[in-house]
Amino acid sequence: MAEPGFSAGKAGMDPVEPVPDVETENDEVGPTAIIVGYIRSVPEPALPYAKEMARVTHAKEVTEHFLHTDFQSDENPQLKSVISGGFPMLEGRYLSVHNEIMRAGNNQVLELASGINTRGLHLTKPELVGGRNFNVCCTDLPKMSKYGRMKAEEVLAGEKRENLRYTPASATSAEQLRAAYDQSGFSGPVTIANEGLLMYFDDDGVRKIGKAVHGILSESGGVWTTPDISIGESRIAQLLKHPDENVRKMIQNFIDIFGLNPDSYFKTEEDARDFYDSMGFSMDLKTREYLIDSLGCMKDKKLGLDRDRVIQSLQSQYIATLSPR
Ligand SMILES: C[S@@+](CC[C@H](N)C(=O)[O-])C[C@H]1O[C@@H](n2cnc3c(N)ncnc32)[C@H](O)[C@@H]1O
Repeated sequence: MAEPGFSAGKAGMDPVEPVPDVETENDEVGPTAIIVGYIRSVPEPALPYAKEMARVTHAKEVTEHFLHTDFQSDENPQLKSVISGGFPMLEGRYLSVHNEIMRAGNNQVLELASGINTRGLHLTKPELVGGRNFNVCCTDLPKMSKYGRMKAEEVLAGEKRENLRYTPASATSAEQLRAAYDQSGFSGPVTIANEGLLMYFDDDGVRKIGKAVHGILSESGGVWTTPDISIGESRIAQLLKHPDENVRKMIQNFIDIFGLNPDSYFKTEEDARDFYDSMGFSMDLKTREYLIDSLGCMKDKKLGLDRDRVIQSLQSQYIATLSPR
């Protein structure tokens, strides 16, 4: 299971101890991005390149190792239910970002915290996507960026993609993001995208990212798109109050593995708008319910997802596209 660069445990700790890769500046290739990559690869049909990426990152083995269980079994129904919610949530957030990239109309994408996300591979396909020839720069902290590049190269198996780059950059650093933009040969409007990042930062951290992104967009033009804005208490936060102690413990373990902050949400839509408004962005915000008929996981009978329940959860999941004023 262990891959070069894959950290299964902090130095001096039992290697089965979970190591979140998302302590926001913890430059480790931890399990989180790989577990997310695995969950995205399970549905039939899966997102483009998701299965290939899961194979080269040994994502199934990593996931089973960290969750200590086959999460598809009925042994642990609460965990099964949380992970089942992950299929439409993760596929939906990928697709919602994809749709906003297509809507933005420019062909340059700067992805923050890309991990092993296959968006870069997908958008730079020689067959073109939506008839467009994209240039994509995937950025992450240095070790993860290197790992993401190495794994993308394995997936491509010798195929060269001049229009796909992996550049180390912290999402909180205006200088590093600007350097990534320049080194990619970008000019003019760019779509900055991230998924699975903002929920790991406190307000000050998100403000730093917002400032860095705003700096680039106000010079180059373009938009910032992210599904990382939560409004209202998450299912995870609700389950932490479950009357059964075993459920609470299991959810806490899940939170620890993912490095999640269950309190990272806005109480109302207006609070979210005000927060981003104070950083100089106007926000186009919608729920992800419109994706219900595009989700591969809904077509996969073996996942047994309940359409009404999925619609209900998509109604509380968002995609935001932010434009600098
Ligand atoms: C949950 S993973 C999501 C990865 C990817 N976006 C996806 O959806 O598959 C979180 C990612 O955030 C990255 N990360 C954490 N702090 C970061 C920072 N300050 N700047 C850039 N990336 C960061 C981690 O290295 C990791 O790849």
